[in-house]
Amino acid sequence: MIDFLYRVVRPLLFRLDPEEAHELTFSTLPMARWLAELSQLRPDPRLACKVGPLTFAGPVGLAAGLDKNGVGIRTWEALGFGAIEVGTVTGLAQTGNPRPRLFRLKEERALINRMGFNNEGAIALAATLGRLKAQGVWPTVPVGANLGKSKVVANEDAVDDYLNSLRALKDKADYFVINVSSPNTPGLRALQEREPLQRLLHAAIPAAGLTPVFLKLAPDLEDDALHEAVNVAVDAGCAGIIATNTTLSRPGATGRVEQYGGLSGEPLQPLARQKIAVVLEAAAQRVPVIGVGGIHCADDVRALLKMGCAATQVYTALIYEGPGLIARIHRELATTMLTTDAPPPASP
Ligand SMILES: Cc1cc2nc3c(=O)[nH]c(=O)nc-3n(C[C@H](O)[C@H](O)[C@H](O)COP(=O)(O)O)c2cc1C
Repeated sequence: MIDFLYRVVRPLLFRLDPEEAHELTFSTLPMARWLAELSQLRPDPRLACKVGPLTFAGPVGLAAGLDKNGVGIRTWEALGFGAIEVGTVTGLAQTGNPRPRLFRLKEERALINRMGFNNEGAIALAATLGRLKAQGVWPTVPVGANLGKSKVVANEDAVDDYLNSLRALKDKADYFVINVSSPNTPGLRALQEREPLQRLLHAAIPAAGLTPVFLKLAPDLEDDALHEAVNVAVDAGCAGIIATNTTLSRPGATGRVEQYGGLSGEPLQPLARQKIAVVLEAAAQRVPVIGVGGIHCADDVRALLKMGCAATQVYTALIYEGPGLIARIHRELATTMLTTDAPPPASP
């Protein structure tokens, strides 16, 4: 049903500016939730997988950036995501970069975005998450809050900015992600370097209390730098690594493409996979790795799990394949993984 509707609606959405299409889609979230509930899209309980201290309901979660302010959490749960990551939110609410800032590369099944963390801020997200808890409708899948740096805050003051978000969101999310890898906030990616990263994580992890903290890394880091960042994260007590964010490079792009912004979707996949392999090697089973970047079918998920990822996340393929994609992938995984000898994925 959901798949059929998306096939009808997609050509109309694709005639709109991508951000207008996004806003229109978000206005239908309550209806989508109702349809999804009717269609019973939640993953087979046997697909549940351990990701460090968390249990994902299935190995495919929602990647950060689609739902910056956490307004659609119950719909994502009904659509069958194994976990839901909201944000990036920043300490201060901000409007992000000027429009247009989101571009489709239809042929390549990719997106380029330079949104620049448009979001209502950590305090507003805390209120939204708090309401779900107060109403007793907190999802049965883990909900993570992805945190970034406010644009007006200098890198020297970044730690305080992240701490403001952590304090606002304390006990409101099932996990946190320290995002130092988005390409659209000037200077942000410099926080992936050893010293600033050490300072940030050594402050953030205690501030998060008992809530696990993950670190999200960029695919544009050299292998040595990835090794170093993973070691810093493990030493600081991170619960896991999320790899990767979007790339500033333009792999597989045909014709003229937007110069500024991060590329996601199918052309990112080879680079992401190569960098995920490096992260897995560096992590050496000390912490789980969540693989993300260009996933668009069950085989992609299977490949990352086989490489050693504890779980995966998806964003761009949802735009091209529709919101029924996650349930389709989980169903396919359930029929293969659970009927062969291969055990479901487990984190170290
Ligand atoms: C429009 C857009 C906005 C994004 N915003 C964020 C964000 O705010 N924080 C973040 O950590 N990642 C963000 N991402 C990156 C995704 O979470 C993901 O890491 C990346 O897109 C690769 O996965 P995909 O190929 O499945 O989209 C964004 C991606 C897109 C396409």
